[in-house]
Amino acid sequence: MNHIENMLKRRKSGFSLESDFYHDQAIFDLEMKAIFENDWVFGGNDCEIPKPGDYITATIGRNSIIIVRDQQEQIHAYLNSCRHRGSLICTHKKGNANQLVCPYHQWTYGLDGTLKHAGEMGSDFDPTQYSLKSVSLKILHGLIYVCISKTPPDFENFKTQVGPYIKPHQPFRTKVAHEDNIIEDANWKLVIENNRECYHCAGSHPELTYSLTAFAMPDDPRGDSFFNELMPKKIKDWEKLGLPHKPVPGGEKFRCIRLPFINDALSMTVDGSLACRKLLGDFTEADLGSVRMFHVPGNWNHFGSDYILHASVTPLSPDQTLLTTKWLVHEDAVEGWDYDVEHLTRVWKATNQQDAILAHNNHLGTKSVGYEPGPYAQSEFMLTDFTNWYAKMMENYLVNVKNNEDL
Ligand code: FES
Ligand SMILES: [Fe+2]
Repeated sequence: MNHIENMLKRRKSGFSLESDFYHDQAIFDLEMKAIFENDWVFGGNDCEIPKPGDYITATIGRNSIIIVRDQQEQIHAYLNSCRHRGSLICTHKKGNANQLVCPYHQWTYGLDGTLKHAGEMGSDFDPTQYSLKSVSLKILHGLIYVCISKTPPDFENFKTQVGPYIKPHQPFRTKVAHEDNIIEDANWKLVIENNRECYHCAGSHPELTYSLTAFAMPDDPRGDSFFNELMPKKIKDWEKLGLPHKPVPGGEKFRCIRLPFINDALSMTVDGSLACRKLLGDFTEADLGSVRMFHVPGNWNHFGSDYILHASVTPLSPDQTLLTTKWLVHEDAVEGWDYDVEHLTRVWKATNQQDAILAHNNHLGTKSVGYEPGPYAQSEFMLTDFTNWYAKMMENYLVNVKNNEDL
């Protein structure tokens, strides 16, 4: 612990982290407890479980969890660990079940988590003591966030500030048109650091930069004359439509802003044309740019007029990170008529592959004996936010562990 505490103490804000933060197994193990099992983590969209009995599983820190819709349409989250001897209960990424049956000795749970059947347990066995363990869950216009901690941090501030931005896109009236999972050979924080800046975009993302502006703020000091003329014009349009656009004061924990596309693009596609002819929600106007929303530790999203992109990172080891990307379109959109999966997914599939190479190179380079934390550029201010938040989470956790040891 001393080694980690010392590294946190000598860390300089505005600089990348010391090498061990990206490679050390003990730090990785601590992060799972201090961060992933201690904060709200994106679990999916409620459109993925539209019918009673539908469930999805997700990995949060060291845990598999089940997110399920019960017969009364209530959505619950449980730890995916049988109360008998701990087996995984749901072994698939998604499915539908009237009851949750453990595949090992068939202990059977209702969708409300109560234990309904356990064979050969004797007359003094009390099934009410063996319900599935619940995980806190919040839904924000369809976006499901879960928290494993028994004392979850505040969610209301995020909900209040971000809700008005994403509600018009009606994520709760969508369907997943495509899901992609790639394993990046890089530490999860390097995957996030890479995502939190567009300093690298011009040199690496020809598909993405057709539509996406590299400028992250409406008054970005790097803004060129084109951007500086475009921004006020778009703000006028959005305000006429009642769409919020200003950056929200999310501090280091979350970010939400509406920004315009460039090149007259209507959507994040290779040529800027719509990815889906049926627009989201009740939109009749396609030229809306996108709402960019990020929530620590690893969930970023784009809400366009025609599709929503959810991305989330799941750390697998210090050296490997699962990136899950989902493309969502209007629930009534018809594949082959309203949208083509290849056209819909091409930009972000290409971008993710390009980013995976960048993050991997970054990962390898930070192993060098010559590596030392380097200064973030001005346009990398979101990396400063992220690493400051990360360090605080780790420090607070270590203080709590110490205080509890003192008891
Ligand atoms: S571990 Fe689940 S029934 Fe035995
Ligand atoms: Fe990138």
